[in-house]
Amino acid sequence: EVKLDHPGGQLSMPVHSAVEGPAGIGVGKLLKEAGLTTYDPGFVNTAACSSAITYIDGDAGILRYRGYPIEQLAEKSSFLEVSYLLIYGELPTPQQLNEFTERIRRHSLLHEEMRRFFDGFPRDAHPMAVLSSAVSAISTFYQDSLDPFDAEHVEISTFRLMAKVPTIASYAYKKSIGQPLLYPDNSLSYVENFLRMTFGVPAEPYDVDPVMARVLDMLFLLHADHEQNCSTSTVRLVGSSNANLFASISAGVNALFGPLHGGANQAVLEMLERIQADGSDVRSFVRKVKNREDGVRLMGFGHRVYKNYDPRAAIVKQAAQDVLGRMAKPDPLLDLAVQLEEIALADDFFVSRRLYPNVDFYTGLIYKAMGFPTKMFTVLFALGRLPGWIAQWREMINDPETKIGRPRQVYTGASKRDYIDS
Ligand code: MLT
Repeated sequence: EVKLDHPGGQLSMPVHSAVEGPAGIGVGKLLKEAGLTTYDPGFVNTAACSSAITYIDGDAGILRYRGYPIEQLAEKSSFLEVSYLLIYGELPTPQQLNEFTERIRRHSLLHEEMRRFFDGFPRDAHPMAVLSSAVSAISTFYQDSLDPFDAEHVEISTFRLMAKVPTIASYAYKKSIGQPLLYPDNSLSYVENFLRMTFGVPAEPYDVDPVMARVLDMLFLLHADHEQNCSTSTVRLVGSSNANLFASISAGVNALFGPLHGGANQAVLEMLERIQADGSDVRSFVRKVKNREDGVRLMGFGHRVYKNYDPRAAIVKQAAQDVLGRMAKPDPLLDLAVQLEEIALADDFFVSRRLYPNVDFYTGLIYKAMGFPTKMFTVLFALGRLPGWIAQWREMINDPETKIGRPRQVYTGASKRDYIDS
């Protein structure tokens, strides 16, 4: 017998009917309405795994990687240090960091045959589609090291991914603008190398702007993991079938592709551009959002988990002000975004619904200032999320409790019907 305290009174029913659901109501809905969540690793529902990687307290606006507050990591660490932390559980010593960085450097080149792979895509291919295809294709070149249960294979695949994904991402971009591809320059740091391969031109020196490189490194760090979300649980789900690391990460890239996940910062930028183009003031835009006029929505506000300020958003806002503030002609969209945030947060409509800026609200403004076109924004998210996906996949594969994922279904279709010959 299942007993539930429901707003409409106490519900009690035999387990059998609770699972099937009484007349059109699934048990999932009943549990949800009663404020309960299912924890069910066998079925891999949302939240159905335990993990020691990232901690979020959405009510308090707290995010920690392996116990370290995101604010401290953003201030004191680099993206590669945090990648090491996520994957191995501890911050690296200087020597460990050196070895980690060197090993990544050694793998940054793509197989020559793989360079030709990029020729096959149409010029206007979205770089995210190119990225996911190319990540999946890496496994075709390293068929002797794909065993998910061989620690050496997993380790080398980890380094190959960390090293090759920035190269693939910049090639996807170069392809989209019809420019020749650049080989990696391993004298540069991880992020500098990516910036050069993306914005540099063959045989011409490329001066990396150190402020841009530092800010991009920090944005990658802020995106590095976010416990269970659409792309991360996709990586775990695909990996739970014992698919190799490249296949699982490629699936994660595709999950991130959607506008509700990785594409959200692009949607914020487009919203700001629309407000600017309409010449409408921010207050009348906010009024439209509240009255749900013309389908207008406030993008970059609210989060399924955070019922408070997303701690990443506060750091990104400061970075946006620093990066754009030092430009001769700062993007007027930054002022628009700041005004929008101030007006919304002074309005009970948003506060009572606990709608606060999330990580996407200011990120696109920085990427735009760095010269990235909007179609690269999701790719940048994927570059940042990569070590988190790898860490989550490794945690999942090493957990003896892991079973193949099988999301639970509550059947809502017709009951048994007999086939009648006509
Ligand atoms: C993320 O960082 O993955 C996004 O905030 C989405 C989420 O966590 O649900």
